[in-house]
Amino acid sequence: MSTLSTSLPGGTWTLGDLTVTRFGYGAMQLAGPWVMGPPADRDGALAVLRAVADLGITHIDTSGAYGPHITNRLIRQALHPYSDSLRIVTKVGATRDREGGWPPARRPEDLRRAVHENLQDLGLETLDVVNLRLGDAQGPQPGSLAEAFETLVELQRQGLIRHLGVSNATAEQVAEARSIAPIVCVQNMYNLAHRQDDELIDELAGQGIAYVPFFPLGGFTPLQSSALTAVASRLDATPMSVALAWLLRRSPNILLIPGTSSVAHLHENVTGAGLSLSDEDLAELDEIGR
Ligand SMILES: NC(=O)c1ccc[n+]([C@@H]2O[C@H](COP(=O)([O-])OP(=O)(O)OC[C@H]3O[C@@H](n4cnc5c(N)ncnc54)[C@H](OP(=O)(O)O)[C@@H]3O)[C@@H](O)[C@H]2O)c1
Repeated sequence: MSTLSTSLPGGTWTLGDLTVTRFGYGAMQLAGPWVMGPPADRDGALAVLRAVADLGITHIDTSGAYGPHITNRLIRQALHPYSDSLRIVTKVGATRDREGGWPPARRPEDLRRAVHENLQDLGLETLDVVNLRLGDAQGPQPGSLAEAFETLVELQRQGLIRHLGVSNATAEQVAEARSIAPIVCVQNMYNLAHRQDDELIDELAGQGIAYVPFFPLGGFTPLQSSALTAVASRLDATPMSVALAWLLRRSPNILLIPGTSSVAHLHENVTGAGLSLSDEDLAELDEIGR
């Protein structure tokens, strides 16, 4: 059993009744190329997960669709039996096709199957947090989530899920979910250069709901901006560090889940997120996404 670290940049946040470090880890990059199949370096992937735990990070983001099944099984192999403080957040609502696409799988039977597969692959009896992944690879798409979300609420009542969230969602879908049942987090694409959710983040902060940006470093296309490079070189830091430190400063309800398949990058990111930004730095960085 490990104790909860508060020395990580950003401190902690509470998802419902579950405390997590604001500096978390996104496991998607541990699968093979384009998140399909096993990693080329399986031992390296297991080493990253063990380093995550050793650093005191208590929030791991994953999905049964990564691989598919691959990252969940790696997490289990590396970290099971889990520390009492570790929280694993997963998502359901998309599957994989032969071409590596992410078709939706949001019929009640798809969602029930996905929840049971996550439980089995992760070796758990209850999933800490399950996000309903909406939209498509192009981003959030309008439309009611009621049938799908109510299916997850039913699985929550059965004790298979502790807390619920939504992902790749419009503000209207977030509101619709909240009218059906409490949510503890929203996981959408957001970073220094993509700030479409600014208003939503502030609204959620006022309601005590976490906002968890995916692609915090730009995802498959790393963040690039001359202003970011300029601020980073002035601070003698990497652009990745500045991007993570900016997110932690942006709002107290933002939780970081940067992905990496490298122990060295993981350490760099933990250190980098602790970078202190001046008001002048912030003003320059704020211009990037405007
Ligand atoms: N809800 C959704 O629909 C959704 C969609 C996408 C992702 N996610 C979640 O969000 C998490 C984060 O997204 P992501 O991993 O795709 O993107 P990301 O965190 O923005 O970026 C990851 C990329 O940055 C590189 N990187 C990380 N640290 C670095 C460093 N210090 N120096 C240089 N390169 C570095 C990684 O390469 P290396 O491996 O070489 O370090 C990887 O290619 C995922 O793991 C997943 O859990 C959710």
